[in-house]
Amino acid sequence: MVDALRTVFRISVRTVGGPQIFFARFFRDAVKLYLRFLLYLVMDDFPSHQWLCQTIVDQAPVAIIFGDRQGIVRLWNAGAEAMFGWTAAEAVGKSMDMIIPEKHRARHWEGYDRVMESGVTKYGRSVLAVPALTKDARRISIEFNVVLVKDDGGRVLGAAAIIQDVTARWERDKALRARLAELEGKPKQI
Ligand code: HEM
Repeated sequence: MVDALRTVFRISVRTVGGPQIFFARFFRDAVKLYLRFLLYLVMDDFPSHQWLCQTIVDQAPVAIIFGDRQGIVRLWNAGAEAMFGWTAAEAVGKSMDMIIPEKHRARHWEGYDRVMESGVTKYGRSVLAVPALTKDARRISIEFNVVLVKDDGGRVLGAAAIIQDVTARWERDKALRARLAELEGKPKQI
């Protein structure tokens, strides 16, 4: 009897296999759709990657400046306004010479043009430490990394600098160096 039932069952599974598979697939697709819908609700609640990037650049306390291949400023964030004193409206469209002390311009442009051609910079990871000029003609000490921005074809569109004002540290170090030199210059007391 049991054997007979088993045989009937096997036959019925084989014969109704089509509808069963159909319903199994239907159920699986429905679950997938529901999960996607949940994901959509969760993702939709959260700002997009693009919005996040823009907000972080706009509001970062570091200065973020982007110059095109000719070195014309195309992006100047709030951090750059606070650090250099020029507003974005004043800086965008101008040469970045406005913040480079005259003495350093030749070396800067020589390096800049070379990097625009080669597509390789030394300062992706290490920092470039240089003096800079503010709108009110103060001299500050800055350190920055360079981010080369390339198009989908690999052509360099320009360079961004992520800049920190290290004037306070620089002046502390200078005072310490002067003090050390003074102490080393003194005859030793026994
Ligand atoms: C604000 C004052 C600045 C000064 C005094 C300055 C000065 C210099 C100097 C001396 C170099 C040559 C470094 C070397 O040969 O190792 C250089 C290179 C360079 N600078 Fe500037 N710079 C300034 C701002 C900027 C800014 C705002 C950017 C980008 C937006 C920038 C982009 C570059 C690039 C891409 C190079 C070539 C780096 C390499 O050789 O890999 N600079 N700069």
